[in-house]
Amino acid sequence: MTQVEDTSREMRLDPDSFAQGYFKNAVYRHWDPYEDVPQELLERDRENLLAQEEESEENYDAMRGSIALFGAGEEAVTEDLMPLALVLEDINDQMFISSQIYEEAKHTQFFDRYWREVVNPVAEERGYEVVAPTDQRWFPEGYVDLFDRTEAAMERLLTDDTPENRAKAYCHYHLVVESVLAQTGYYGFTSRFGEGEADVYEDDLESPHLPGLVEGINYIRSDEGRHVGFGMQKVRELIHERGVDEAVVQDTLQSLLPLISETVQANQVEEADPVPLVEYASDKLSRRIDILTDADAEIPGVDELVKLEDADQPAAGD
Ligand SMILES: [Fe+2]
Ligand SMILES: [Fe+2]
Repeated sequence: MTQVEDTSREMRLDPDSFAQGYFKNAVYRHWDPYEDVPQELLERDRENLLAQEEESEENYDAMRGSIALFGAGEEAVTEDLMPLALVLEDINDQMFISSQIYEEAKHTQFFDRYWREVVNPVAEERGYEVVAPTDQRWFPEGYVDLFDRTEAAMERLLTDDTPENRAKAYCHYHLVVESVLAQTGYYGFTSRFGEGEADVYEDDLESPHLPGLVEGINYIRSDEGRHVGFGMQKVRELIHERGVDEAVVQDTLQSLLPLISETVQANQVEEADPVPLVEYASDKLSRRIDILTDADAEIPGVDELVKLEDADQPAAGD
């Protein structure tokens, strides 16, 4: 049936559906990775990086390695979401997913810009090797494995679209990659390179203040709050209304946790202490599972999801 033959509804859209509410929020909070992160801020990032007295190439590699992971991750999720757009039937859901694909593309664009305008110019000026963001040295095995499995879970929907496989797809994509991995990574980054934010790390590593990077990441984190909320809603629906066994969800999430720990610990400088971040990630995962499996638990409204809390409560949707 094509949309024009659909007589089951009078108005085209359902403003009361959560997906339409999320879409509206996405349009309202639109941002431009070039215009909304001004040149002057990136200029300050370059200056602050060059002013670091004790900066070493090893520290610089840890920083640009993490940026390479984020950039590659955003590109991967931009590509991998399409199967879901093809299988969702409801127009409100489709509209939301189209906004999400567009946003992932913007996130990819921001990291591409940052590499061109900050990472490479600073490396050149310091006399370090200029390395491409696509260089394989940045990507640990666990990271590659996690994204391969996510791509496979999404593509499976094209040939075998069952409620279980949808639950698995949302678990890989929205809950593990976006919620646990990306939100943990972005939290670590703003904590390390932000100004005046609570620091998750207990080491005394001195880090430059990078206002341009933090500004871009704040916009991204806010978008991610909405994406994660959508995935959580869908998985709850699959468990509580479509009969998907919650063990499918728990097993999928738990099986991916080791890959997350490996990724979170990658590209850390030697003195850095990765433990708080790994704990943060696994703690977040168990709180997600609680909200998903408890039929009475509530996912916060979209205005809450996109808010950036203070650094102690950084991740939208908790
Ligand atoms: Fe993203
Ligand atoms: Fe996302």
